[in-house]
Amino acid sequence: MLAGFARHFGGAPTSLWSAPGRVNLIGEHTDYNDGFVLPFAIDRHTVMAARLRDDRLLRVSSAFTEELIEISLDELSPESISGWSAYPLGAIWAAGAFGADLERVTGIELYLVSDIPVGAGLSSSAALESVVALAVNELWELGFDRQTLAKIGQRSENVVVGAPTGIMDQSAVLLGKSDSVVLLDCRSLESSVIPLGLHDEELTIVVTDTRVEHEHATGGYAARRASCEAGAAALGVTSLRDLGVDDLARAEALLDDETFRRVRHVITENERVLETVAILRERGAGAIGTLLDASHVSMRDDFEISVPELDLAVEVARRHGAVGARMTGGGFGGSAIALIRSSQVGSLREAHLAAFAAAGYREPVVFEVTPSQGATRHPL
Ligand code: GLA
Repeated sequence: MLAGFARHFGGAPTSLWSAPGRVNLIGEHTDYNDGFVLPFAIDRHTVMAARLRDDRLLRVSSAFTEELIEISLDELSPESISGWSAYPLGAIWAAGAFGADLERVTGIELYLVSDIPVGAGLSSSAALESVVALAVNELWELGFDRQTLAKIGQRSENVVVGAPTGIMDQSAVLLGKSDSVVLLDCRSLESSVIPLGLHDEELTIVVTDTRVEHEHATGGYAARRASCEAGAAALGVTSLRDLGVDDLARAEALLDDETFRRVRHVITENERVLETVAILRERGAGAIGTLLDASHVSMRDDFEISVPELDLAVEVARRHGAVGARMTGGGFGGSAIALIRSSQVGSLREAHLAAFAAAGYREPVVFEVTPSQGATRHPL
């Protein structure tokens, strides 16, 4: 980290920051429908070293490519940035779009490293955006709160990267707390932290990265979002958040089959999030399994965002005695999670490797995640 910074910029950084990736426990494709999500920050991070300059240059490099990107703050625009640097530089542009006076600030040097796998549905991009937004917020004294920093990351993702994603990922990355999930109402942006108590229950969450890479800037994600918007419009509501299970019969009568199934996923998924929260509070994580399982079925059959590798990961976990399992994130690849007795983690990993090999799929990466603290500054 420090050596990488010194190699590109000479000398030492003046501050150090980190932002985690995230896993969504439940509540998929509900965020851009103004609904509920229940993600947590994980113990995988993007770490960034920073140092202010005394001119107007932004200079960014990373251990991913070792390429050095340089641009003046005076030239920063969605059109002038591309490639991987669109994530860090896009966050700076978006801070300006949210009212930061970028004309009075000086340039900055940033060096980034990360152990969050890219394309695995664990929000490596939101971690990049959030770590930069958090750092410049403090170094340039912009005065944004964390909710606004999440919106800044999302704006960058939407406008600069071009992915029409919701607010969940950046919120999880910025608001996460150890051993807890974050319940976020994506309409009001009110959030609360709910303890998971995994350690006491001797439970572990295992991620199986199928290594089927997804892309949210193109294709299926945007199509799902468009279906949801069309469904809401046809049913006369601002967003699907305004509908409940009582509206399903009307929705079925009015909508074509595909749109109806998209709508049914979102309506039932919102219910499952709230039910998960109630069960976590009353009975603990060991009792949420059927909701995780039902969420996966809904994504597989109604929302149609799973892939055979994700279905296999979920099926093997369930056969292996997991409390519950589901794909997590936007879908079309990425990762599945299993909530499982801690003593069974090793054998689940073996079972996943064997099942993927037998099916002729790429070898998955199976690892434990610990619900962790959100983005933060570190002492140097
Ligand atoms: C991606 C997006 C999020 C959310 C999820 C699906 O992770 O970035 O905003 O829509 O997919 O729940």
